[in-house]
Amino acid sequence: MKLTLHVWRQPSAGARGAFERHEMPDVSEHMSFLEMLDVLNDRLTLEGRPPVAFDSDCREGICGTCGFMINGIAHGKRSLTTVCQLHMREFGDGEELWLEPWRSTAFPVVRDLVVDRGAFDRIIAAGGYVSVNTGSAQDANAIPVPKPNADRAFEAAACIGCGACVAQCPNGAAQLFTSAKVAHLALLPQGQPERLMRVERMVARMEAEGFGTCSNFRECEAVCPKGISIDFIGWLNRDWARARLAQRKDAPPLL
Ligand code: SF4
Ligand code: FES
Repeated sequence: MKLTLHVWRQPSAGARGAFERHEMPDVSEHMSFLEMLDVLNDRLTLEGRPPVAFDSDCREGICGTCGFMINGIAHGKRSLTTVCQLHMREFGDGEELWLEPWRSTAFPVVRDLVVDRGAFDRIIAAGGYVSVNTGSAQDANAIPVPKPNADRAFEAAACIGCGACVAQCPNGAAQLFTSAKVAHLALLPQGQPERLMRVERMVARMEAEGFGTCSNFRECEAVCPKGISIDFIGWLNRDWARARLAQRKDAPPLL
């Protein structure tokens, strides 16, 4: 099939960017989107021109490295799919595609389609771990975890940190990511000792990184390739409120 690409080119963080047009005359429907860009980059390299910079690693939808906007949708139009798992059969002959990096103050552009998502790492570093000594690995049945909690923790832990939620949010909010990282520990016994300290620190870091504030557009949930539910944002808000109340004697018990 034949496609026309309009790719955002920006040589460095401070440089001015612009769309660059590329005709792709022979795209196989079996290619993944990133393989199609590999073909474009081979051509550009042979022509002595700089290839399009984009992030990828696993190309299996599990590492969270890839991601950019395709026609204004983070990871493209197929739901529950990272751009590395998106195939060209999803597109029609003659389509025009506009590729842009994530647009967010907290994710500055590094080059072309690559952005710096270090802000996510710093949110994790602020509290997304268990630092108490939990001993060596136990037998799976030794720590009783109610099945609904185990399932919910697993759902939250599916977040791959890709940043699509931030990119699609009109506010540039990081609540979906942060809530997933908070909830997957808060739902397990190992996460209890540091639960309130964790949520306070991670939310404070999130705010300091320049992300916007959630106002329930739900765009994050719509584009999340791992189907993370905004229910977790409710979880985050409740735990954050409990953390603020925790100093009071009449604070409600944690559930
Ligand atoms: S919540 Fe979804 S969209 Fe956001 S970083 Fe995690 S996997 Fe990506
Ligand atoms: S390259 Fe790993 S999720 Fe896309």
